Amino acid sequence: MSKNTEPIRSVKGTRDLLPSETALWQRVEEEARRVFAAYNYREIRTPVLEQTVLFARSVGADTDIVMKEMYTFKDRDDESLTLRPEATASVVRAYIEHGLYNEGGIHKLYYMGAMFRRERPQKGRYRQFYQIGAEVLGTDHPAIDAEVPEMLTVFLERLGIDEYALLVNSVGCPKCRREYVKALRQALERVKTTLCADCQRRVNTNPLRVLDCKVEADQSVIEKLPKILDHLCPECRQHFESVTAELKERGIPHQISPRLVRGLDYYTRTTFEITSDVLGAQNALLGGGRYDGLSELIGGPPTPGFGFAIGQDRLVLAVEAVGRLKSHVALAAYIAWMGDSALAPASRLARDLRREGLSVEIGYEPVKLKKSLGTANKLGARFAIIIGEGELSSGRFQVKDMETGHQEEVEPARIPSHLREKLAAAGEPGG
Ligand code: HAM
Repeated sequence: MSKNTEPIRSVKGTRDLLPSETALWQRVEEEARRVFAAYNYREIRTPVLEQTVLFARSVGADTDIVMKEMYTFKDRDDESLTLRPEATASVVRAYIEHGLYNEGGIHKLYYMGAMFRRERPQKGRYRQFYQIGAEVLGTDHPAIDAEVPEMLTVFLERLGIDEYALLVNSVGCPKCRREYVKALRQALERVKTTLCADCQRRVNTNPLRVLDCKVEADQSVIEKLPKILDHLCPECRQHFESVTAELKERGIPHQISPRLVRGLDYYTRTTFEITSDVLGAQNALLGGGRYDGLSELIGGPPTPGFGFAIGQDRLVLAVEAVGRLKSHVALAAYIAWMGDSALAPASRLARDLRREGLSVEIGYEPVKLKKSLGTANKLGARFAIIIGEGELSSGRFQVKDMETGHQEEVEPARIPSHLREKLAAAGEPGG
């Protein structure tokens, strides 16, 4: 039997993130953790696998995500499982399952991780993609609907992203939405035949979904449909007015976007998105909103909620396009040693620096200085530490700044603090 030795490739719509990319991904995650912690969010990690029914009941049975995009399969015991297409449902499930509501008060939770949707892959759209998201459970106060976008603007600012638009809308509560959907359906019945096949079906199944149809030919028809903001009940109108007033007070520029109903069914009242033109076609950097009825939909106590998820793949693309955030230096120092007698002190120094948490590489074979410096350069080392016969007899090693070329002699015991000072001055961690 001949063996098949065809190279095996990654699955369509998934990708490997190589070390040249992960440095920036880590930097973005680090900034997210820092900003979220400043707003008192704590991390939650939920499984990638969930029961299929969780998403059918929360995201909604007639959404594109549930109807067309989920990776769903029967486990060996016939249970239907799904690779999570989003994490809000999982976070609320965990909140209920572990009785976090018994602790009272507000829970502010954040997460980072892989999500799965079987969409047509293109730049910024993948079948395995990554989200950085957060959920606030336990309050329907409009201040949260403004504080969360504020936190996001602080985060984007730290990443150097300043070209974006914040779009906000209210989709009302089940009560006013019922009235609106009735009016919308009536209007749609009149123009139904001019719409795409998907929208014609949506008129009966879920007319709100017509509003986020992307088909070009449908747009002029959709623009003329009744607007949900004109159909809000007094409580929802008041809530939305408070949210926009708070956004103004906090100095957060935003646009009201009456068509922003979002592709998931659990939303109530505020919905929002941040889009950025630097992204091209897939311009939604993040999206979120309020979901006051979600907990009850999946068997929990009434618990208002508000949250968002950032598409991390898109965020990193935007960070790269803007080019202001740099990943940290890969390597603090490369130790270039020459001659057998230099190996032991070089290894000791490497150990001392690494013990202090500085990233260090050392040549394992004796080579000439020029070649060592070439390697240091290639590895992106910030400093090269040169140890040859002269250095061993003087008891002071050469520390070469690979950026400026400046070189100075430093006693081995002083080298860790010397590097730390220099790195701190350059704003690098480890300094
Ligand atoms: P979503 O709008 O479905 O919301 O996704 C949030 C973000 O994930 C999008 O704005 C986009 O940046 C990114 N994204 C979605 N699909 C893909 C894909 N196939 N490839 C790359 N990026 C993608 C949610 O998922 C909600 N759970 C957000 C939320 C949290 N609402 C309340 N809390």
